[in-house]
Amino acid sequence: MCGIVGYVGRTKAGDAASDHQHGALDVVIEGLRRLEYRGYDSAGVAVISDGHVESRKKSGKLTNLLAELEADPLQPAVVGIGHTRWATHGGPTDGNAHPHLADDGKLAVIHNGIIENFAPLKAELLGKGYQFKSETDTEVAAVLLGDIYRNQVRNLSEAMQLACQRLEGAFTLLAIHADQPDVVVAARRNSPLVVGLGEGENFLGSDVSGFIDYTRRAVELGQDQIVTITPDSVEITDFFGAPAQGHEYKVDWDATAAKKDGYPSFMEKEINEQPRAVRETLLGRTDTDGNLMLDELRIDESVLRSVDKIIVIACGTAAYAGQVARYAIEHWCRVPTEVELAHEFRYRDPIVDEKTLVIAISQSGETMDTLMAVRYAREQGAKVLAICNTNGSTIPRESDAVLYTHAGPEIAVASTKAFLAQITAAYLLGLYLAQLRGNKYRDEVADVLEDLGRIPDKIQQILDRADEVKKLARDFVDAKSVLFLGRHVGFPVALEGALKLKELAYIHAEGFAAGELKHGPIALIEEGQPVFVVVPSPRGRDSLHSKVVSNIQEIRARGAVTIVIAEEGDEAVKDYANHVIYVPQTPTLLAPLLTTVPLQLFACELASSKGYDVDQPRNLAKSVTVE
Ligand code: G6P
Repeated sequence: MCGIVGYVGRTKAGDAASDHQHGALDVVIEGLRRLEYRGYDSAGVAVISDGHVESRKKSGKLTNLLAELEADPLQPAVVGIGHTRWATHGGPTDGNAHPHLADDGKLAVIHNGIIENFAPLKAELLGKGYQFKSETDTEVAAVLLGDIYRNQVRNLSEAMQLACQRLEGAFTLLAIHADQPDVVVAARRNSPLVVGLGEGENFLGSDVSGFIDYTRRAVELGQDQIVTITPDSVEITDFFGAPAQGHEYKVDWDATAAKKDGYPSFMEKEINEQPRAVRETLLGRTDTDGNLMLDELRIDESVLRSVDKIIVIACGTAAYAGQVARYAIEHWCRVPTEVELAHEFRYRDPIVDEKTLVIAISQSGETMDTLMAVRYAREQGAKVLAICNTNGSTIPRESDAVLYTHAGPEIAVASTKAFLAQITAAYLLGLYLAQLRGNKYRDEVADVLEDLGRIPDKIQQILDRADEVKKLARDFVDAKSVLFLGRHVGFPVALEGALKLKELAYIHAEGFAAGELKHGPIALIEEGQPVFVVVPSPRGRDSLHSKVVSNIQEIRARGAVTIVIAEEGDEAVKDYANHVIYVPQTPTLLAPLLTTVPLQLFACELASSKGYDVDQPRNLAKSVTVE
């Protein structure tokens, strides 16, 4: 939600730059390009050149800002900030785009988050005679900061401290001031911010992709901290000026991972990266004797043995990964397991205590709803384990333990490879707990691990036949509504298939538990209604398979066009399916790692053939850092 970049160096673009010095505008624009997935309804930049703050901003995608910069270029500069917005307060107009200027145009501020007490602050500032040009909460923060700078402390870091003491809510703020032309000051509370360390230059970003082209050395900041960067220094304090420490780490993503690599979209690239995402998430998790080891767990084994309830919290696709994992965790560990949307969890007074293990699943590690639920669970005494894809992000830092998925950076807004990696990591955790608690012998765990190890090649087989699914998708380009049915682990897969289609193709899509069909949804079936059915393996529990086959017959009898995802060799479904998509054979619990893939391909192709931008669907943002 909103991408933020800051840069300070020594060499202006166009000057004879040394190897590791860059023009501020180039760095900021490149950072925004990489962070655009966070929000894309407007974008803006500000730089300091020749002692003045200059800024450009434009509603719409980053390309609009680039056109504006071409028509009305900025002077070369060594200091700059940039923003790509997902609107909260005030619509996506040029005027509401960031940066917002204050102190007679000498100060520029960008912001990610929501300043909850902006209304009383605005009233106070209006009372002092200030005027506002936008409807945003950000401009209130900018004017407040400008007022403090002008009337109290003529030092941007100290002014930021005083301003932050008055702000409530969630925010990352970046500010530059014409009087301090080699400084960017940033503050963070409950919103993401990472520092990138260069040589003779330093960077700020909402996440490391904001500066991944220039440095792999990153510093994660704690809550309520202010960081001041100059070309040669990075100083961190709390909101009261007391020195504070960040945690330096090495970024293990490379810059090419954040490029399309010849694919038409990040979405397609990421769907195709799924064999690797699963393989890498499985990698290095067993010792030389084949015992499952999850070193990053850091929760005492005795605590994990005494857990009597597991609650998985997450949002969006990550919550569906949790729903899939629940079947496996309960089956393997015999511990009651609930899955709950993070934003619902903490408002219903859930029963959580020291014997509850909360598993927070988040690709970004920054989803505000999930973060708040993590904090709530810990306050209640639960141990929280994060399953996360982003090193240095807030949720793992605030959890008792973390199990990283190794899917690599996921840029497309709608999640694909992170979903499969999340299921894989949650399965590893389930197996680990089962082994630890004595529910499974080592050889039983080893058998499942072996099956998991075969999954990447099986995903590849599905991807190798992607053209069949894509052709089918093009045939449904005029569909107004598509339904998805599944049973057991196929149910959350159906939900995820529907979500992908909604997100990417803006088609009404709904997932149902196949057994629920005759309790209501069957009323939706009419002649020509497309329905995906995720069919369980006939080699698993027989009743499961035959019940879903009956469901297919029920909807076919009422005119549905059935698209069946079934296991290779399942001949029984053929007679009732208008279309069959076969996936390789695998044990029932692991099937979601395969059956999801055709649904992703279908949604992506259908949306692309409608001419939609599958990487940046309308109204969405990848990392939702507001509640
Ligand atoms: C947003 C994204 C989804 C994602 C969800 C949770 O809604 O559009 O793709 O699944 O956030 O994100 P997280 O980073 O916590 O997994």
